[in-house]
Amino acid sequence: GVGETHLFRYPADDDPAVLLRVSADSVVAFSQKCTHLGCVVYFEPTEDRWHCPCHDGNFEATTGAVLSGPPTRRLGRIDVEIRSDGMIWAVGREREG
Ligand code: FES
Repeated sequence: GVGETHLFRYPADDDPAVLLRVSADSVVAFSQKCTHLGCVVYFEPTEDRWHCPCHDGNFEATTGAVLSGPPTRRLGRIDVEIRSDGMIWAVGREREG
């Protein structure tokens, strides 16, 4: 359902990533690494944002833009595609910087 998250690894097995369902037919995905010092961010459904517990950093749910806290860069976006069979594939990621 909307607001559900799913953890995966991308692009490598030690790169935590997370997918968020934002509507019946759309999802967004981000690297789970906070752009401040690399802690793992998680989704807060009640606040509709990504939260980093290390230094209280917050990012916008669907764009990953910084809302508050020490991070200066938005979360790293991962491009995903919903295929006709309903499978969701990670197909790339935006470059850093
Ligand atoms: Fe996320 Fe510092 S590592 S706010």
